[in-house]
Amino acid sequence: MKALVLSGGKGTRLRPLTFTTAKQLIPVANKPILGYVLDHVSQAGITDVGVVIASGTGHDVNNYVTDGSAWNIRVTYILQEPLGLAHAVKTAESFLGEDDFIMCLGDNLIGKGVNTLIERFENEDLDALILLKEVEDPTRFGVAVLDSKDNIIKLVEKPRTPPSNLALVGVYVFSNKIHQAVSRIKPSWRGELEITDAIQEMVNQGYKVKAEKLNTWWLDTGKKDDILFANAKILDEYVKQEIKGKITESKIEGRVTIPETAKIIKSTIRGPSIIGESCVIQNSFIGPYTSIGNQTQIIKSSIEYCVVLENALIRGVERLKESLIGRNAKILRNRKRKTLKLNIGDYSEVEI
Ligand code: G1P
Repeated sequence: MKALVLSGGKGTRLRPLTFTTAKQLIPVANKPILGYVLDHVSQAGITDVGVVIASGTGHDVNNYVTDGSAWNIRVTYILQEPLGLAHAVKTAESFLGEDDFIMCLGDNLIGKGVNTLIERFENEDLDALILLKEVEDPTRFGVAVLDSKDNIIKLVEKPRTPPSNLALVGVYVFSNKIHQAVSRIKPSWRGELEITDAIQEMVNQGYKVKAEKLNTWWLDTGKKDDILFANAKILDEYVKQEIKGKITESKIEGRVTIPETAKIIKSTIRGPSIIGESCVIQNSFIGPYTSIGNQTQIIKSSIEYCVVLENALIRGVERLKESLIGRNAKILRNRKRKTLKLNIGDYSEVEI
């Protein structure tokens, strides 16, 4: 069993952050989303991993994952034009060879590992096993229709009138039969070779294509609120109370991780929260469900349910909530000034 982790695409819904970074590298609980995906692959005992990258952001993905040794995996990089998920499989064909493989989207997080999914695929000798989740708005996703034995009988990509509420969550296990299915399909209305169409082709040819319903959370990290929600989930489940750092006249409540190099002065930090390396938090309140990236400074501010990336500066801001703040960003409040002075990047959003 090999793995194919898709880490290309443009990330337009997460602009402006994705002007300077790949969407798969946006951190939740101070670790890139892609890191959690590779954890799952590695925990399933897979060592041979193809990482599909795009020309604009591939360099950053490469810098983060390197040779994969941090996950005990061996990584082969595959450069792809963003022409669809089935196109990614086609581009990776020589890497995949005749092997079975699990395909995961590098910007999707699920609340459990993939071991049992792979075991089921192997035990039942399937050609495809697709992870599904009930969702409220199936029009945003690929959608599947099942028979009473969990066989997939029909799939539609982004249906206007959804035939079910079961969305494809971006985790698929395939036998090598997928390759000839991919070679038969044509690009969709959005100009992409859709993996849903390739799976439909396998169904049409009578291969064993089954579904498994995910019984835990799933996050398609499409937009800001999805990132904040993923951050809260991960903090809830993984953050440990680990208080190092230099703490002066401060209160640390609940599960909070503070590294050796951080300084907390006259502040309250309420968990679950994580503070990055070399951060300075002074005269501030950091509320639950907040992740602060490395080298960030928070001075005389109160922030809650936020993801702040590296080297940001937040000063004098009374109440910042549900916000995603990019690298090197500054939010400064001058109490004497009644006007707002902004220097905002393209596609930024500010709610005042
Ligand atoms: C892709 C797939 C879709 C799936 C979704 C999950 O959509 O085409 O079937 O439900 O990922 O995130 P895209 O992100 O390309 O719109």
